[in-house]
Amino acid sequence: MDAKEFKDLAENIVGAISSVYIGNEPVVRKTLAAALVNGNVLFEDYPGLGKTLLAKAFGRVLGLKYTRVQFTPDLLPADILGTKVWRQNLGTFELIKGPVFTNVLLADEINRAPPKTQSALLEAMEERQVTIEGETFSLERPFFVMATQNPIEFEGTYPLPEAQLDRFLVRLHVGYPRTEEDELAILEARLSWGKDDPTTDLKPVIDRETFIEMQELVENGVYVSRDVLRYIVNLVRNARADSKVEAGPSPRGAIALMKIAKANALLDGRDFVIPDDVKTLAMDVLAHRVVIKAEYSFEGVGGEDVIKDALKKTPVPKGAEYE
Ligand SMILES: Nc1ncnc2c1ncn2[C@@H]1O[C@H](COP(=O)(O)OP(=O)(O)O)[C@@H](O)[C@H]1O
Ligand SMILES: [Mg+2]
Repeated sequence: MDAKEFKDLAENIVGAISSVYIGNEPVVRKTLAAALVNGNVLFEDYPGLGKTLLAKAFGRVLGLKYTRVQFTPDLLPADILGTKVWRQNLGTFELIKGPVFTNVLLADEINRAPPKTQSALLEAMEERQVTIEGETFSLERPFFVMATQNPIEFEGTYPLPEAQLDRFLVRLHVGYPRTEEDELAILEARLSWGKDDPTTDLKPVIDRETFIEMQELVENGVYVSRDVLRYIVNLVRNARADSKVEAGPSPRGAIALMKIAKANALLDGRDFVIPDDVKTLAMDVLAHRVVIKAEYSFEGVGGEDVIKDALKKTPVPKGAEYE
């Protein structure tokens, strides 16, 4: 696969998803960029903004296996991972695989389940494997989680712990429809579908093997200059050095930014990363990895503010290749 073929496929994917999730192509593109590096995505925003719709549409269009788990306060780890049951007639234990044995796991309303259940996903998210009653099983390629959550101020939610947040490559705010025209288009689309869930009619526009080829091109076919690497490092270090920060983004965060910047470059048809790829995604990759000191957090300072400042403060590398 070459960059041109990649771009055409990516446009088909974005187009198919944007036919049901209307008016927000930037978020669709970022989600695709994350998926291309096996990145776990957390959609966080108020109810009714299309988070579940967007995740379901991805599950369909990518031609991958996908399962959906509705997280509830009584959901148990075994409901996600699976369990072993004793088979009397065979004299052995049999593994009943849970919904995590898939390619795309939609963890819907993840913050409605208690921490123990949320953390059952940690191993899968980080290592693409699960341990069930002491035995470890690898998950198929590709594997990533698309989770949705309402903002944590909402009642009855268990905020994701920092360790879990760090496992999400990006946190994306889907946002309200931007314009009156976009919102009109949403209503018109709903009228023409004649039903609430249009994703059941979506056909895959790509298959698993081709998607993996796209992933391999991102991994092996995109050049990142030392200047751009240094830009990522400086951004992360500036965020970390902020006096309002209790714990800043980890190297895992810096690597995440580098990885998704490569995917973003190819989505633009380039086989090299420019500082703009980094800038476009820095907020989505880094903001949720920042822990603010209690006294500032109390005043309403958030990770976004820190990353915004870091972006302002960090000199952008200039070079002929970036123009
Ligand atoms: N951008 C959008 N494009 C198309 N439909 C939308 C959009 N935003 C919301 N909707 C519609 O609003 C309803 C709520 O969407 P849903 O995905 O369940 O929201 P959430 O999971 O964010 O609470 C759905 O019927 C969906 O079709
Ligand atoms: Mg939902």
